Amino acid sequence: MTRSFKRLLIAGGAGFIGSHFVRYLRAARSDVEITVLDKLTYAGNLANLVDFEGQAGYRFVHGDICDAELVDSLAAQADAIVNFAAETHVDRSLMDPFAFIETDVRGTAVLCEAARKHDHQAFLLVSTDEVYGEVRQGRSEEDDVFRPRSPYSASKAAGEHIAHAYAASFGLPLLVTRGSNTYGPFQYPEKLIPVLITNAIDDLRLPLYNDGSAVRDYLFVDDHCRGIDQVLHEAPSGSVFNIGTGAETSGLQVAEAVLEIMAKPRSLIEFVADRPGHDYRYALDVARITALGWEPQVTFADGLQRTVRWYQDHPEWWRPLKSGEYWEYYRRNYRPLVS
Ligand code: NAD
Ligand code: TYD
Repeated sequence: MTRSFKRLLIAGGAGFIGSHFVRYLRAARSDVEITVLDKLTYAGNLANLVDFEGQAGYRFVHGDICDAELVDSLAAQADAIVNFAAETHVDRSLMDPFAFIETDVRGTAVLCEAARKHDHQAFLLVSTDEVYGEVRQGRSEEDDVFRPRSPYSASKAAGEHIAHAYAASFGLPLLVTRGSNTYGPFQYPEKLIPVLITNAIDDLRLPLYNDGSAVRDYLFVDDHCRGIDQVLHEAPSGSVFNIGTGAETSGLQVAEAVLEIMAKPRSLIEFVADRPGHDYRYALDVARITALGWEPQVTFADGLQRTVRWYQDHPEWWRPLKSGEYWEYYRRNYRPLVS
């Protein structure tokens, strides 16, 4: 099946993955008119979208996905919504769960309602592998039950449940992608990889929770965006897709790889107190998206090199972010390992 769109509403398009998705669309589907709706929280950044400012077929609207009136008026001018907008960082969700419940649950519901009212061709919810919860063994398949364990993953799971309810009850043409840990340029320096890289540039400690053994499937952002695009245009309505590489990398392996690329000493690694409720392993079964014809094109070694180089070359992007509120958050989050 193939779908095409004239006008897409991209919610959360000023964040990390959303802005890469806008870049992907401008290059691959230049005829599509794009409206980005973004609240510009601490994680949203117009610098991510500066290349498109003033271009025909692109506009930015500053606003909240929880604002039903605004969302309704923008949905009236679109034929599909892709939702990236969310509070996204697990550690922050432990400090302020309600911000996550508001945006990731209620905001998702507001978008579903607008998409249904305006008879959209598709509503694509960008979800996460974290909805499955920790998987000690085996791999999560799309039909597995949700066992989220952090306020972030529980809010994403609840938002997904609302979207599935809209599909079942009102015929919302829902598509869901559950991507794994994504990395690349323009990622706010609170997630593991940009924290490690920007700290290493400044010879600061590289904090690893507990013993650094927790495993993730690190996915380069361009591969993730191509997967979302493929699902949006080719997947049958109502389908859900895991997107990941199938590889497993521990935090310690990531830190060692960053230090090796940057020729910095291993002594920069610091083991710190564990994240409460830390999920020690996520692993996805990716047979379904593979059958759709998608596969990752960027290896972890290559993607990490490219990402390190980008942060080294773009201090003007990340240095202003690491100030004031950031260091307050940082001090609150990272505590020395108590033995
Ligand atoms: P991000 O934190 O970089 O960006 C989120 C964006 O949403 C920001 O621009 C922010 O301003 C905006 N936003 C937040 N609340 C909003 C609101 N109420 N209204 C409008 N805009 C709002 O996040 P990201 O890493 O780019 O993640 C994008 C999506 O992908 C999220 O839904 C996340 O759950 C999902 N995801 C992320 C990863 C990952 O590893 N980063 C992996 C899988 C899935
Ligand atoms: P993170 O990037 O926050 O993503 P996730 O949403 O998957 O937790 O963390 C990735 C992994 O790295 C996770 O196991 C927690 C760990 N981690 C650290 O060890 N140190 C850090 O400073 C951060 C941010 C994460």
